[in-house]
Amino acid sequence: MRALVQLAVFALALSLVRCEHDFSRYSFQTTLNTQENGGLYELYWTFDNEAEKISFAVRVNAAGWVGFGLSPNGQMPDSDVVIGWVPSEGDPVFHDRFAGGREPPTIDEQQDWVLKGGEEENGFTILEFSRKYVTCDDYDLPITPETARVIWSFHATTDPTSEVLTFADRHSHRGALSLNLLGGLPDAAPDPLGLDSYDITVNGITIPESDTTYWCAAFKLPESIRTQTRYITKFGPVVTEGNEAHVHHLLIYLCDGINDTHVGNGGVCDSDVPRQVVACRGGTLIAAWAVGGEEFVYPNNVAYPFGGEGFPEYLVMELHYDNPPKIQGTVDSSGMRMWYTSTAREYDAGILRLVML
Ligand SMILES: *[C@@H]1O[C@H](CO)[C@@H](O)[C@H](O)[C@H]1NC(C)=O
Repeated sequence: MRALVQLAVFALALSLVRCEHDFSRYSFQTTLNTQENGGLYELYWTFDNEAEKISFAVRVNAAGWVGFGLSPNGQMPDSDVVIGWVPSEGDPVFHDRFAGGREPPTIDEQQDWVLKGGEEENGFTILEFSRKYVTCDDYDLPITPETARVIWSFHATTDPTSEVLTFADRHSHRGALSLNLLGGLPDAAPDPLGLDSYDITVNGITIPESDTTYWCAAFKLPESIRTQTRYITKFGPVVTEGNEAHVHHLLIYLCDGINDTHVGNGGVCDSDVPRQVVACRGGTLIAAWAVGGEEFVYPNNVAYPFGGEGFPEYLVMELHYDNPPKIQGTVDSSGMRMWYTSTAREYDAGILRLVML
């Protein structure tokens, strides 16, 4: 009797303890989609070369279904996918499926991806599953030491009503990226589909009616970049449509000596903005574009580390506008777009601290 009471107390205590989900058994982690892009999608994985087995966990800010899989080329046709969801009542639903085309994936006869656990809490769906590298099912793609094209999808709010999916169960979000699953490091040449980007633009300023204007605006890095180092692989201009003749060049500088009060649309560099902002034009130039220029792409395997602890939290952009005909009231929201990845292996390469992707 006493043992029974103890057991009951123990069980009660267990049910009251809310633990953060433990992903520590996974060796690798990457973010497939960010909160800003419609819902965080985190991937964890680990592999065992002896057992030739790979285990995954996905943690997705979605109350609906979650999809994950491998594709020959990052697109949906001929991809080997799993789709799972956690109904409000009952056990998680999870299937190894195959997408023949841009159509709801069908359930494989042979179920080689195996669910290890599934839960939904606080708007996050967590699924854990594993499979053999090679399954001997024509409807599965092998996991090899080569770069894999990983595809992901989810529906932010709604579970399917049946295991047989229809077009009504279409994803609300999807994407793809290249990952070396058995090396744990990203592909040397990042797949543009898998890159995040960050726009540094002014917001609806009026181009002054003078021949030439140097416009200065200060920006604070978003929290997601301030707190974690990202790796810029490419940048290029985002010029407001119709303003191509006015936007002459764009320069982005890192900036240390300013604070939140300086952030905003700015103004004419030498007359309208505080000297602290103007002074940043003497600092580190990280991106430059001038009319006639193209996107700048870092060489394969090279990127520019950006953000994270100790990195300047502010940027200053100088926009050079031309307006010889003195056209009035041209509204502009131009600037620079930086593409970045979130994982890299660092090495020192002289003055520019380059990183190896
Ligand atoms: C921001 O910088 C300005 C100019 O250097 C300074 O006067 C002001 O006190 C600073 N504000 C904050 C909140 O740090």
